[in-house]
Amino acid sequence: MTLTYPIESLKAHPARLSPDYRSTIKRSPQKPLVIMRHTLSELTGPVYGHETVREHDHDLTIQHKGEPLGERIIVHGHVFDEDDRGVPNALVELWQANACGRYIHAVDQHPAPLDPNFTGAGRTQADSQGYYKFVTIKPGAYPWGNHHNAWRPAHIHFSVFGHAFVSRLVTQMYFPGDPLFPFDPIFNSVTDEKARARMISSFDLENTKPEWALCYRFNIVLRGKNATPMETK
Ligand SMILES: [Fe+2]
Repeated sequence: MTLTYPIESLKAHPARLSPDYRSTIKRSPQKPLVIMRHTLSELTGPVYGHETVREHDHDLTIQHKGEPLGERIIVHGHVFDEDDRGVPNALVELWQANACGRYIHAVDQHPAPLDPNFTGAGRTQADSQGYYKFVTIKPGAYPWGNHHNAWRPAHIHFSVFGHAFVSRLVTQMYFPGDPLFPFDPIFNSVTDEKARARMISSFDLENTKPEWALCYRFNIVLRGKNATPMETK
């Protein structure tokens, strides 16, 4: 088990202050961060109960009586550590808007319909190679009030736990070719183009299921210089 984590990870993540993303102005610290050494319990303590992940939690299209509306998709990929090794048994969780761009959440007042057959949350445990897979619905873009005519590109929120709390990553997965990319301050708070590209899934024709669902591949790197960027706070 890795007992130290590479500092290069920090460079892959967006600045805490990204003024175009207005909420970060009040949220971001005003003083330089103090880097603290990890404690043994942070590095070796249990991160979640594997037994609580149920067999069908990875399929967001079978959580209710009927099927959700929208475009069914497969999202899959590998979770890697800083040395390109798969992270076995990583806990991968996701949450997202429905096909109309609406979340089931009290503060989401976007005038788009909720779908009684779609909750928008799922989780799974990666296999022994760090491979994970979800079946879900392609989320819609939604307005978010950051500035005039602000729309989020379609995205899926991910939370991943590796072997320890300090290997947790919270990020957003995007879809290739989204026309909203140039206008989204959250996506562009990651200023390095190559790092931004690591948040965009790739269309995966090979693993598309004919007559059933398109497929997207989203590999996730938890730490190191090629880390998938953390979601801007
Ligand atoms: Fe979102």
